[in-house]
Amino acid sequence: MPVIRNASFVATCPDDSVQANVGLVEHGTVVWEGDSILWVGPEASLPSEYHSLEQIDVRGAGVIPGLIDCHTHLAFGGWREGEFEQRILGVSYLEIAQRGGGILSTVEKTRIASEESLLALCRDRLREMNQLGVTTVECKSGYGLDRETELKILRVYKKAQQLEPTNIISTYLGAHTVPQEFRHDRKSYIQLVLELAEQIASETLASFCDIFIEESAFTVIEAREILTHALQQGLQVKVHSDQLSNLGGTQMAAELGALSADHLEQISQQGIDALKRSGTVAVSLPLASLYTFQPPLDARKLIQCEVPVAVATDFNPGSAPSSHLPLALLLACTLNRMTPAEALKGATIYAARALGIASERGSIEPGKKADICVLTTPNVEHWLYNFGEARCQLTIVNGSVAFSRM
Ligand code: NIG
Ligand code: FE
Repeated sequence: MPVIRNASFVATCPDDSVQANVGLVEHGTVVWEGDSILWVGPEASLPSEYHSLEQIDVRGAGVIPGLIDCHTHLAFGGWREGEFEQRILGVSYLEIAQRGGGILSTVEKTRIASEESLLALCRDRLREMNQLGVTTVECKSGYGLDRETELKILRVYKKAQQLEPTNIISTYLGAHTVPQEFRHDRKSYIQLVLELAEQIASETLASFCDIFIEESAFTVIEAREILTHALQQGLQVKVHSDQLSNLGGTQMAAELGALSADHLEQISQQGIDALKRSGTVAVSLPLASLYTFQPPLDARKLIQCEVPVAVATDFNPGSAPSSHLPLALLLACTLNRMTPAEALKGATIYAARALGIASERGSIEPGKKADICVLTTPNVEHWLYNFGEARCQLTIVNGSVAFSRM
């Protein structure tokens, strides 16, 4: 049973509707047993029965819940740095896709990658994220777009969960775009997406079904059909909506009870109102706005309208080729106008809500899983303001040390 000593603060990140409230405990401490948190509060009030426990002296560092990256496309073959250069020179993300680049070029490389090689890549990527304090990662399929490869990707996530400490939540994204071989027969592809959703749900290979609603991907009508079917199979739903254009996908997702709507750079007031009514979490992906030269989401407006805003990396080889969640949080501050406290809640308890796991993870409270990150910073604001490398000293997942530089 370990106890943290000499922390400058513990930000507990309670699950309330005030995004700026990180539940700060100055000179706080945390006690856990096995994988569960037993006690949190000021070190001066630590009950005497905990005084003789195994002590972890963090020497003035701060303590936050383990970070949750609630939107990644973790498994993919190859990279697309050529497109990065083309975008810098003025070619748009959509034009690149129309020229045969974009998602479909990664699909080609992912189809030929072996299951073993994808697993090795995912394990390296998860370890790297773990060193930044990330303890839970949502992982999407969507670079297979055929039965064999979509299942291969989801099996890779299942194996990675057995081999790595990080908590993984898997999402089926067969509706990422229409693959080349079906480009003249969308209906048949949608039929395949529906069949696969059934198989994936019955084999519990994913918890969520996601869809990319965009002119280059799927319409709102198609999305409604696919997501309704997924819900009937017992999958929860989320969407990529309002990224490059506003098609009304966010309202449809809210109506279906989606746990999150992600991207949202082009969200309308109707979209914001719909999210507020349904309690759907808005997920900001500022790395994607940065890399695609898109005007960023105005998260300030959403927060003022009492919509919870999570922040994630969107890690993928095209629009967001970085898995650095703290960097995404810095960008959430500077591009989306979230305060550091709001950004922290966005990558902890609100990210947990976006994944339907807020009763188990995302905050430091008795009864929750002991997912904890120790950071060398005097306070939450300073962490994202004086942005630097190697801030994370210790990552605890399910009560065990997953990474330490202490
Ligand atoms: O979330 N928006 C759609 N899908 C990904 C990008 C995928 C890619 O470019 O390969 C995203 O940004
Ligand atoms: Fe994405």
